[in-house]
Amino acid sequence: TAKEALSRIAEATDLDTLEALRVEFLGKQGSISGLLKTLGRMSPEERKLEGPRIHGLRESVTEALTERKDALEAAALEARLASETIDLTLPAPEQPVGSVHPVSQVMDELAEIFADMGFAVATGPEIEDDWHNFTALNMPETHPARAMHDTFYFPDHNEAGREMLLRTHTSPVQIRTMLASVKENPGGAPLRIIAPGRVYRSDSDATHTPMFHQIEALVIDRDIHLGHLKWTLETFLKAFFEREDIVLRLRPSYFPFTEPSVEVDVGYTLVDGKRVVGGSQGWMEVLGSGMVNRRVIEFGGLDPDEWQGFAFGVGVDRLAMLKYGMDDLRAFFDGDVRWLSHYGFSA
Ligand code: PHE
Repeated sequence: TAKEALSRIAEATDLDTLEALRVEFLGKQGSISGLLKTLGRMSPEERKLEGPRIHGLRESVTEALTERKDALEAAALEARLASETIDLTLPAPEQPVGSVHPVSQVMDELAEIFADMGFAVATGPEIEDDWHNFTALNMPETHPARAMHDTFYFPDHNEAGREMLLRTHTSPVQIRTMLASVKENPGGAPLRIIAPGRVYRSDSDATHTPMFHQIEALVIDRDIHLGHLKWTLETFLKAFFEREDIVLRLRPSYFPFTEPSVEVDVGYTLVDGKRVVGGSQGWMEVLGSGMVNRRVIEFGGLDPDEWQGFAFGVGVDRLAMLKYGMDDLRAFFDGDVRWLSHYGFSA
């Protein structure tokens, strides 16, 4: 009966049940479809009476099915919305953001400062031979300065029979640059380069790590003297620390590849136990330098009576420590994000 059909539709609790009911009543073999077919066999009078009744039944069942379907779909949507609530006022989950490491940052800053002064960037291999790392820098095999470098050696020699090692400084790039320049330019010079990179020594404490970073500078030209070196150092250190009041201390020193040699300290003041650049309460050694030794200019393939120059090697990690107030060099290479973010290098 009509009442029965409508109440079964009203009681359907899901869309599958509802679809089964639609097939049962209105499908090809459905009961209402069956009733409609009987109309053809009726007499006109009968049809006049039964026609509207059966069509009315089909209409009300169709309507009830649509209504129930809408209601079930709305309820399903309601339930989904309730379970997937997003509170837009909540803070977004933290996304870890990477950043430039302080050493890379300082390397970039230095490269930029020297680029402004007309220095090009040169490079050399970290796996070096002892000729470039020592001999050509005026440290023959028996030279005691070789022992001072705590060198990491490889067990095998190269094809030329040279001992192989991890470069102990960026100074071998001086030799490589001069030799390459002599090959490429008719005059061989002038030259004005920096060479940033990793260097290695078997050494480890709060201010030494077995791998650290240097930037080498080499200027070769006519009539170069110590005044040019001093001006260059002052200019780049003022630009790097972004202050005019930095104090430099130039100490006479010794390197086999420079004569005379000068070690350079930057003065600092202790503020709450932290080193702040400026003043002269304490000193931090940041670079070695000097006038390029005649013998080194010769090893580079240039005539030392025509060309003079100065060179220096900057400890990049030391500079970073001073600029950012860090006190343990080893932490630079621990990769601890908490340490990096403490110094403002990570989100
Ligand atoms: N190579 C020296 C070092 O590593 C630094 C230096 C470079 C000194 C150039 C003089 C000239 O200690």
